[in-house]
Amino acid sequence: MDCKFVKRSFFQRVFGVSETKKPTVANCWEYEDGKLVINLHEASELRTPGGAIRFEGGNLPVRVLVVCGEGGEYRAYRNQCTHFGHRRLDPVPGTNTVQCCSINKSTFDSSGNTIFGPAPHSIHCYPVEKDQEKLIVLISE
Ligand code: FES
Repeated sequence: MDCKFVKRSFFQRVFGVSETKKPTVANCWEYEDGKLVINLHEASELRTPGGAIRFEGGNLPVRVLVVCGEGGEYRAYRNQCTHFGHRRLDPVPGTNTVQCCSINKSTFDSSGNTIFGPAPHSIHCYPVEKDQEKLIVLISE
C-alpha cells in the first residue's frame, strides 16, 4: 500500500507536535461511565470529511483522536502510537489512515493496523455511535 505523509516540519516531528488540535469549543464534550460524548453542533471541526479533534485531559482516562473520515463516517482511536515514543496521531489528508506525528511516521489503516513505520502493534480503535447531534465514543482502556 502506498503511504502518504502529513506535512510537518523537521522540528515539529522531532518534538512530536501533532497537527490535530484540541476542540475550539473546550466544553463540547464530557466523559462519564466509559462514554465520551461529543456535541457535534459545537465540535465544528468534525463536521467535514478529513476533520479531526484530539480529546484529552479532564477526567478522560486516555487520549482519544476522533476523525471524520473521507466518506463522512466517524472513527475514534486511542491517541497513542505504539512505538516507544507513544506520540500523538494525525489523520492523513485524502486517505483513511492516521499517522504518528514523530520523525518515524508510523502509519495505521482505518482499522488501526500498522501499515508503515516501526510501531510494533496496531492502535486501539473505539466503537463510535451517532445519536442525532451527539457522537458517543465507547472507551475501553
Ligand atoms: S512514537 Fe510513533 S513512530 Fe515513534
